[in-house]
Amino acid sequence: KTTCCQVTDLERDRKNIEEAGRVLRAGGLVAFPTETVYGLGANALDEKAAARIYAAKGRPSDNPLIVHIAGREQLSSLVTEITETADRLMDAFWPGPMTLIFPKKPAVPYGTTGGLDTVAVRMPSHPSALALIAAAGVPVAAPSANTSGRPSPTQAEHVMEDMDGKIEMVLDGGPVGIGIESTIVDLTGPVPMILRPGYITREMLEQAVGPVEVDPAVAGEAAPGVRPKAPGMKYRHYAPKVPMILVRGGPEGVVRTIRRLAGEEDAAGGCAGILCTDETKDQFPQGICRSVGSRREPQSVAHNLYAVLREFDGLGVTKIYSEVFDETPLGRSVMNRLSKAAGHQEITADREESCGILT
Ligand code: TXA
Ligand code: MG
Repeated sequence: KTTCCQVTDLERDRKNIEEAGRVLRAGGLVAFPTETVYGLGANALDEKAAARIYAAKGRPSDNPLIVHIAGREQLSSLVTEITETADRLMDAFWPGPMTLIFPKKPAVPYGTTGGLDTVAVRMPSHPSALALIAAAGVPVAAPSANTSGRPSPTQAEHVMEDMDGKIEMVLDGGPVGIGIESTIVDLTGPVPMILRPGYITREMLEQAVGPVEVDPAVAGEAAPGVRPKAPGMKYRHYAPKVPMILVRGGPEGVVRTIRRLAGEEDAAGGCAGILCTDETKDQFPQGICRSVGSRREPQSVAHNLYAVLREFDGLGVTKIYSEVFDETPLGRSVMNRLSKAAGHQEITADREESCGILT
């Protein structure tokens, strides 16, 4: 049986954090909020505990876990080398939504790193996450707290949907702030390399340390046969139960195309799901449309994306049409997740013709 406890007020909820810390030390599993998505935590130095994470998620065992720490002093027990570049990045972005890959020390079991000689480490900024890691007194291995293949959880309710009965405890800190996973940066090569885009963009990293590369595999289908350096990026991560198609083009062309296709889907006896924005949500009389946020606030789109994808899975739609979001750096990180969810299925909108539907 899984207990769900509030951690919205650190003073008041102190005993919940302490209990969760004891569960982790004893080899148990605790899901907890971070600023990006909810994590599914276990003692990172205990191979058996890490193995339970893979079982609870149904996760392939070659997909390594991120080790979460509460302070920089914990790092030296996990990694063999901390370069000047690493120091600069940590100064700039920790605690926060950035994960760094280092060569690992023997103390970190292969059961945590998926058999790799490197380890991914992150110091989250969420106060409850930091308090939990401190209470556990050990580094905490934590992937996103979803069943493998489902959208990452951004609320405790999502965690319960996937993990109820499989883990000891869920700490409920309400909805997370960012909504997509951390940026992963590999520091084991000559130039820092982004293995997974996230809230911290390439531009932000380059401001701190100069040139940064992006793993060619991040481009997805544009780079067939290229093997991603983050093992988890090769999996389709999340696929809706029904086909999802991204529609690219000018704003009015996109709205008109989705309207047409949604109308055709409905007429054929199906039901179209439409992933749209605050700016367009009143333009779709057909199908079931859900806004992920406003284009004027790319952060709102990141924040709501996974919840909307989860919702569509429960709505019985037969096809999903989605707008695209690549006009901002954060939007491009969102697109990395969305393109994968769509299996890279993309169409170009009908010719743009001003018809005054968007003002
Ligand atoms: O924001 C986040 O990073 C969230 C929260 C909970 O911190 N965690 C998260 O973990 O997204 P997960 O397991 O869903 O994704 C971890 C990714 C996978 O793609 C994995 O392959 C990659 O990190 N990774 C972990 N260790 C690695 C390593 N040593 N080398 C390369 N990639 C690694
Ligand atoms: Mg994940």
